[in-house]
Amino acid sequence: LWTPAQIIEDQIARVREQVGDRHVLLGLSGGVDSSVVAALLHKAIGDQLTCVFVDNGLLRKNEGDQVMETFAKHMGVKVIRVDAEQLFLDKLKGEADPEAKRKIIGNTFIDVFDAEAAKIEGVDFLAQGTIYPDVIESAAAKTGKAHVIKSHHNVGGLPETMKLKLVEPLRELFKDEVRKLGVELGLPYDMVYRHPFPGPGLGVRILGEVKKEYADILRDADAIFIEELHKADWYHKTSQAFAVFLPVKSVGVVGDGRRYEWVIALRAVETIDFMTARWAHLPYELLEKVSNRIINELAGVSRVTYDVSSKPPATIEWE
Ligand code: XMP
Repeated sequence: LWTPAQIIEDQIARVREQVGDRHVLLGLSGGVDSSVVAALLHKAIGDQLTCVFVDNGLLRKNEGDQVMETFAKHMGVKVIRVDAEQLFLDKLKGEADPEAKRKIIGNTFIDVFDAEAAKIEGVDFLAQGTIYPDVIESAAAKTGKAHVIKSHHNVGGLPETMKLKLVEPLRELFKDEVRKLGVELGLPYDMVYRHPFPGPGLGVRILGEVKKEYADILRDADAIFIEELHKADWYHKTSQAFAVFLPVKSVGVVGDGRRYEWVIALRAVETIDFMTARWAHLPYELLEKVSNRIINELAGVSRVTYDVSSKPPATIEWE
C-alpha cells in the first residue's frame, strides 16, 4: 500500500542517494508541482537546494509575496526572487499574437532563469516538477501522436546548454497524488488545491498586446472573482475560474456623462481532464455580486460579461 508518507520517505532516500552532498537548483513557479518538489527537496537535502522564483509581472494578485512567505519565511527554503516584470513587459511590447506571446514569455523566462543560475556556484542538478502526465504528453509530442495545440513549457523547456543532471521526484505521479504529497509535506491547503494557472500567466488572459495597466486591472478583477467564489463556496466546485481582460472600450454612465472603459470577462469551468469542459452554472446572485464589485471598485472597467462557451470548440483560456 502506497501512502503519501511512504512515497515521501522513498523519494527522500532516492534524492539523497542521487544528489549526495552536491547542490540542486529548482525553478519555483508557485504552482503545485514545483511547490511540492521544493518542499520535498528541502526535507531531503535542506540547504543544498536553491530555488529561483521568477516574477514575470504576469502573476495573480500577491502571488509573488505569497510564494516568498510560504517557502522562504515559513519553511526556511533558500529562494532567490527575481523581479523581472519590466523585462517581460519590454519584450512583450507591440506583440499581439497569442502564440508569439507564449514564445516570448517562455524564452524570457529561460533567459532570466539561466542568468540567475549562472550566478550560483557549484550547482550540479536541476530539479523539475515534471509529473507523469507531462512525461506522457511530451513523449506523444515527440512521436507526433499528439496534436500540439499550444506550446507548453514544462518538459524539456530548459536549455540544453545548462549541462545539469535532472532531479524529477514526481515523474511517476499523477496530479492528485502530488497534491496529497503536498498536504503531507505541510504545504498550505489553499496552495495545493489551487486552480491551475498557465505558465504564460496573465499574458494569455490579456487579449492582444500586454500592458502593465491592463495587468493591474486584471489582477484586481481576478482577485475579486476568486474571493467571491470562495465566500460562496463555489471555488472548489469549479475546476478553473479566472478573469480575462478585453481591450475594448464599452460605455458606462457616470453622473450625467458617458464614460468609455474596459471590459472584463469572467470564465469558470467544470472539467475532469481539461480536454473538454462545461461552463460552470454559477448562481446569478454570485455573478451579480462579482460584477457589481468589479465595476464599482475598479476604475477603468465599465462592463463585466460571463463566458458561456463550452470546450470544445471554445478553449478554456481565451487565447
Ligand atoms: P485550453 O485553453 O487549451 O487550456 O483549453 C487547457 C488547460 O491548459 C492551460 N493552458 C496552459 N498551461 N501554458 C500552460 O502551462 C500554456 O500556454 C497554456 N495554455 C493553456 C489552461 O489554463 C487550462 O488549464
